[in-house]
Amino acid sequence: MKNELFRKKSIKELLKKDGNIHLKQTLGAFDLTLLGVGAIIGTGIFILPGTVAAEHSGPAIIFSFILAAIVCALAGMCYSEFSSSVPVTGSAYTYGYIVFGELVAWFVGWALLLEYGLAVAAVSTGWSSYLSALLEGFNISIPKAISGSFDPAHGTYVNVPAIVIIFATAFLLTLGVKESTKFNTIMVFIKVCVILLFIGVGIFYVRPSHWQPFMPFGVKGVMSGAALVVFAYLGFDAVSSAAEEVKNPQRNMPIGIIGSLFICTILYVVVSIILTGIVSYTHLNVSDPVSFAMQIVHQDWVAGVISLGAIIGMMTVILVMSYGGTRLLYALGRDGLLPKSMCELSKKYRTPVKGTWVFAVLVAFCAGFVPLSELAELVNMGTLLAFTIVSIGVIYLRKNKSIPTGGFKVPLFPILPICSFLLCIFLITQLSVHTWIACGIWMIFGLCIYFAYGKKHSIMNKE
Ligand code: ALA
Repeated sequence: MKNELFRKKSIKELLKKDGNIHLKQTLGAFDLTLLGVGAIIGTGIFILPGTVAAEHSGPAIIFSFILAAIVCALAGMCYSEFSSSVPVTGSAYTYGYIVFGELVAWFVGWALLLEYGLAVAAVSTGWSSYLSALLEGFNISIPKAISGSFDPAHGTYVNVPAIVIIFATAFLLTLGVKESTKFNTIMVFIKVCVILLFIGVGIFYVRPSHWQPFMPFGVKGVMSGAALVVFAYLGFDAVSSAAEEVKNPQRNMPIGIIGSLFICTILYVVVSIILTGIVSYTHLNVSDPVSFAMQIVHQDWVAGVISLGAIIGMMTVILVMSYGGTRLLYALGRDGLLPKSMCELSKKYRTPVKGTWVFAVLVAFCAGFVPLSELAELVNMGTLLAFTIVSIGVIYLRKNKSIPTGGFKVPLFPILPICSFLLCIFLITQLSVHTWIACGIWMIFGLCIYFAYGKKHSIMNKE
């Protein structure tokens, strides 16, 4: 019994089966940084600086952003070491399978489903808020009842625009949309320009008196704020998953990860400081704070441009995260831990159509009915759980003599992986009790599925 739960995948077999260690190595440090910025910037920058400042950190939200960036950079290095040693699909789930065995792998996979699924739901609800704001600029309003999550007291029942964008993305994914570097570059350009526009205009409307009190909720507020804004940095793991296509990964991988996190941190900190300087943090608990601030200072055209940029920028995040989620379902199905239909490829498009629609329907349900703040907290919980396993996993990975040499190695080993592990645990403790309870229920549900289905059907039974 014990052996079954902790059976591991062999690195040699994985590399042989996937056979993708010979991918062409074309990406340099600059490409990687762009890739990272493209995958990272989404709802986080356009929504969290407002809501988190209002409820947790106040203007000191800049410290929350910096702390979260440090945690992500450390975890990002651990991810890089794994992905350059074992360049196969499945991300942290596969890494868990190699180092800790099946049960932990399932645990990580299940936590990651929470991350990807709810991240898509959360970004879609953010997208919907910005769409409403933009349409209002043209005097078009979406009927209130169908413009927000289930909250009868405020007259909203279901978030139809969020559901529509999720299904539209799922449809694109079933056709086999491939992100091209060019498309990514244009997106990065649009997102960064919109943010710079906000900074460039907003700076003239800052009133330093709004920064008093600077830390209204104390150090505790800054810490719980950090646990929430981790969300804004998600997506950097996309950089590490490109490891096998990177030229000179030892040098370029850390530059790509740290570089993209660094750029985003600067942008996030500057946006937050300007935002809380234009409007008092007490008024920022709105669903589109960045364009809201521009409306307050009567720069309606800037607000419109920002909404448009945000809408376009968020779509790439929805696409990348949905892609990640469906790939994970695919890997779980392929390994027999979920039904095989999750990894069945359509004959016509060679994409996992059934898995994609199952993912979309579940996510659309969450996006349609659950409020953004609840979603974002749970996303962070799933992510931080995966980070802890990957951080500690690096220590075990180094002991494994069958890994190919030459990939990226975390510097200051084992101090950095241990710091990463401890910081992630610390941030997890900062999340609210109801997030813990919701995550606990999700995990118990996952364990039931594993013992009722996965354990019996795992392809490891045959090996
Ligand atoms: N980092 C992504 C965002 O902020 C998830 O939308």
